[in-house]
Amino acid sequence: MKVSFANIAVPKAGAVVVGVLEGRKLTASAQAVDDATGGAVTRAIKASTFKGSKHHSLTVMTPGGRLSRVVCFGLGKVKDIDALAMQDLGGRIVSTLKPHVTSVQVLIDGVDGCDLKAHEIAAEVAFGARLGSYAFDKYKTKKKEHDKPKLTDVKLFCAQSAKAKSLYEPKDKIADGVFFTRDLVSEPANVLYPETLAAQTKTLAKMGIKVEVLSQTQMKRLGMGALLGVAQGSAHEAKMVVMQYNGKPTRKGGKADQPVAFIGKGVTFDSGGISIKPSGGMEDMKWDMGGAGVVIGLMKALAGRKAKVNAVGVVGLVENMPSGTAQRPGDIVTSMSGQTIEVLNTDAEGRLVLADALWYTKERFNPHTMVDLATLTGAIMVALGTHYAGLFSNDDDLAWDLIKAGRDVDERVWSLPLGPEYDKMINSGVADMQNIGERWGGSITAAQFLKRFVGDTKWAHLDIAGVTWSKAGKPISPKGGTGFGVRLLDRWVQNKIEK
Ligand code: BES
Ligand code: MN
Ligand code: ZN
Repeated sequence: MKVSFANIAVPKAGAVVVGVLEGRKLTASAQAVDDATGGAVTRAIKASTFKGSKHHSLTVMTPGGRLSRVVCFGLGKVKDIDALAMQDLGGRIVSTLKPHVTSVQVLIDGVDGCDLKAHEIAAEVAFGARLGSYAFDKYKTKKKEHDKPKLTDVKLFCAQSAKAKSLYEPKDKIADGVFFTRDLVSEPANVLYPETLAAQTKTLAKMGIKVEVLSQTQMKRLGMGALLGVAQGSAHEAKMVVMQYNGKPTRKGGKADQPVAFIGKGVTFDSGGISIKPSGGMEDMKWDMGGAGVVIGLMKALAGRKAKVNAVGVVGLVENMPSGTAQRPGDIVTSMSGQTIEVLNTDAEGRLVLADALWYTKERFNPHTMVDLATLTGAIMVALGTHYAGLFSNDDDLAWDLIKAGRDVDERVWSLPLGPEYDKMINSGVADMQNIGERWGGSITAAQFLKRFVGDTKWAHLDIAGVTWSKAGKPISPKGGTGFGVRLLDRWVQNKIEK
C-alpha cells in the first residue's frame, strides 16, 4: 500500500475521510467538505445515530460533485486523541474502506486542546493505516472478486505535510520490519524450516546487516549439545543465524560501543518430539519460531530507519520432530556452557535452543544487555491471556523500561517473578538441571532455566506465546501473525539507547 502526504485542501473527486468529534462536532475539514457538498454531511449525520464517538463511522455516499463518498470517523473526545488512538484510527480507515475503493484521501486538522499537531496526527494515522493493511494471502489462488483488497493508495492531507512525511518515514521502516516478521510466522512449516528461514535472513545483507549462518557442524564444534539435541529427530538441519548491525559511529580512537543483543527461539515446527503434542491445534506450532521472527524483523526495522545503535540478533533455528533419531525423555545433553541437562520432556525444547543461543551470544559479543523472545510456554497464556507478554528480568530498571516502551506502542508486557525457590525446582538428580519443573509456575521455571545461561549480563526474557498469533485481530494488527515485539523493542532502543 502506498502512503503519501499533501497539504490540506478539499479534494474535488474520489473518496474522502474526515473526523468528527464527540457530540457531532465537525472538524474544520469536515465542515469544509460539508460546505462543498451543500450540507450533505450534516444532513446525513442528522439522519443517523452517529455521534462522533470513538470507533464509530458513517459513510455518506455520492454527497455531490465528483466525490464518491465521504466517510466520517468518530474521534471521541479531544482528550482521547493520542498517538495510539490515531494509529488505531488509521487501521480502521483501511479495514472500512478496503473492500470498496482503491484510493482514499484522509483530511486531518489540528484540534483545539490536543497535544498533537495536525502533521503529527497524520503521521500516526498513516502508520496505523500501513500496519492495518497487512494481509498474508499469497497462497490464495482463487480470490473472490469481493474479497480482493482493493485499497492501494492512502493520501493524508494536513498542514505542514512535509513534516508529516519526515515523521512518517522511520515509521514506514518499522512497519517493513513488522511485515517481515508477520510474513515469517505465517509461512507453513513445509516451506519455512531452518535452512529456508536462514536464507530469508540473507535478504537483510543489502541493508548493511552482516549475516552469518552457522551450520550444524559448526554448532557441534562449539559444543551446542542442547540445541542440537532438539534438532536431531528432524530431517532438516539446524541453523543459527547471527546478524550484526552497527549504527553507532565509533568515536575517533575509541572502541566500538558494546552492543545490545536480541535472541530468538526459532522452532520452525514444534510437534513436541517424542513427548508429542495432541493433534488438535498442533498446526499452531508453525509459529513457534515467533521469537526468531521478531528478532529478524527488528533488525530490519533498526537498519531500515538507520537507528543509532549497535545491535546483534541471534536466532536458533530447529525443527522439533519425533523419529528414530529423535531425542528421548531421559537423555542427558551437554550445553555449550558445559552445564548438563536432563531432558525429561522433549516438548520443553525452546529453552534448550535458547540455552545455547544465549550462552553463545554472551561469550562472543559481551553485550551490555540481552533480550530474548520466545513462544516458550502455554502457561504464560494461562497467566496473562493473549493481551500481555510475560516479562522476566534480572534487572528491575530494564524490566521497567520494557514495560514503559510496551505502553508507548501498545505491545504490553507484565513482569513475573524469578527467585531461588523456583530455581531449585529445575535441579536434577542426575545432571546439573532438568528441562522441566513441576506442574505449577511453568513459565517461571522456564525463565529460571534460561537465567542459568546468561551469567552476569543484564537480561530480559519475553514469553510471547500468547501474543504472537491473534485469532481476533485488531485495527493495526489483522488476524494472524502480529509481529508483537518489533515495535516494542524498537521503541525501547529509541527510549534508552538512542537518547
Ligand atoms: N512452543 C510451546 C509453547 C506454546 C504453547 C507456544 C502454545 C504457543 C502456544 C513450548 O515448546 C512447549 O511445548 N511448552 C510446554 C512446556 C512443558 C512441556 C513444560 C508447554 O507449555 O506445555
Ligand atoms: Mn514444545
Ligand atoms: Zn516450542
